[in-house]
Amino acid sequence: MRMPDLVGDVASVLLTEEQIHQRVTELGARISADYQGRELTLVSVLKGSLPFMADLMRAISIPVSIDLMEVSSYGGTATESSGLVRILKDLSKPIEGRHALIVEDIIDTGLTLNYLSGYLRGKNPSTLHICTLLDKPARRLVDIPIDYLGFTIPDQFVIGYGLDYGEYYRNLPFIGVLRPEVYAAP
Ligand code: IMP
Repeated sequence: MRMPDLVGDVASVLLTEEQIHQRVTELGARISADYQGRELTLVSVLKGSLPFMADLMRAISIPVSIDLMEVSSYGGTATESSGLVRILKDLSKPIEGRHALIVEDIIDTGLTLNYLSGYLRGKNPSTLHICTLLDKPARRLVDIPIDYLGFTIPDQFVIGYGLDYGEYYRNLPFIGVLRPEVYAAP
């Protein structure tokens, strides 16, 4: 892969820092109201949801625990998920009897989250719900019930605010559309 041009490889800005901040604040307020008085664990799915998790948890005004999982899909390509998921890092504490909320960056085919929610359900939380910043419904293969949603986006490959292409671009503070020439290049 050629060296990325962090800003030059962005075809257009889809969501600005301000738009993201405002929506994350709204989601945090809703989650705070819904889980009032409950034992909530936010389960972030590394690495893509790292900035979203960091902002969302600070927009939540009730006591919460956090935990981190890391998964990688394999057998696909840099822009296509395969649905084969490997757990690289598991939860550090049991969630049995607690209310668990998965914090995800983006749902595309839904295969990753379908696997992950089945896996976490097996750990017997009291409830298990899903919060995703982005939803790309055009390519969905399995139905995923989304409880908290930031934005629905069109079928374009996006980068920034944690989202990567080939592990780069995660540090862009906004969400942009990657120039198709970048992933078409050999
Ligand atoms: P799914 O299994 O197809 O739903 O894919 C989910 C994962 O694919 C996400 O957690 C991302 O890591 C990755 N992904 C899907 N679409 C995009 C995108 O547009 N940009 C960056 N990563 C993406």
